[in-house]
Amino acid sequence: MTEFLLELLKKEVKKRGYISEEAVKKISKKTNIPVSGIYGVATFYSFLPTKQQGKNVIHVCTSPTCAIHNSLDLIKFLEKELKIKLGQTAKNKLFSLYETSCIGCCDEAPAMLLNGKPYIKLTKEKIKKILRKCKS
Ligand code: FES
Repeated sequence: MTEFLLELLKKEVKKRGYISEEAVKKISKKTNIPVSGIYGVATFYSFLPTKQQGKNVIHVCTSPTCAIHNSLDLIKFLEKELKIKLGQTAKNKLFSLYETSCIGCCDEAPAMLLNGKPYIKLTKEKIKKILRKCKS
């Protein structure tokens, strides 16, 4: 049943970009899974957002290899640059910032995903360039 639920949630994210409250209620009716159970599954996975996302969604890896290579400092830097906290979306809806577990780029840490595309060997300078491109 969890696999079926995940498929429904992924479909919703593909369709609308996030899982709305209405969608959760609809899925609850369809599957007989309580609303709280659906939120429990959705909030467990960082790629199943339950809030509307920005145009550019950043997931910074905080697993051990990236953390050793300063990904936590890069998150603080991103928070300052984007004027949002981890887990938030900017008021202008240009960026959302999240952390994630390993994205499979450990040998080129620290790494992040921007709209699903990996960026590796990150530095503050590299991030500044990436953000500039997104804003233009
Ligand atoms: S630990 Fe960050 S990509 Fe694997």
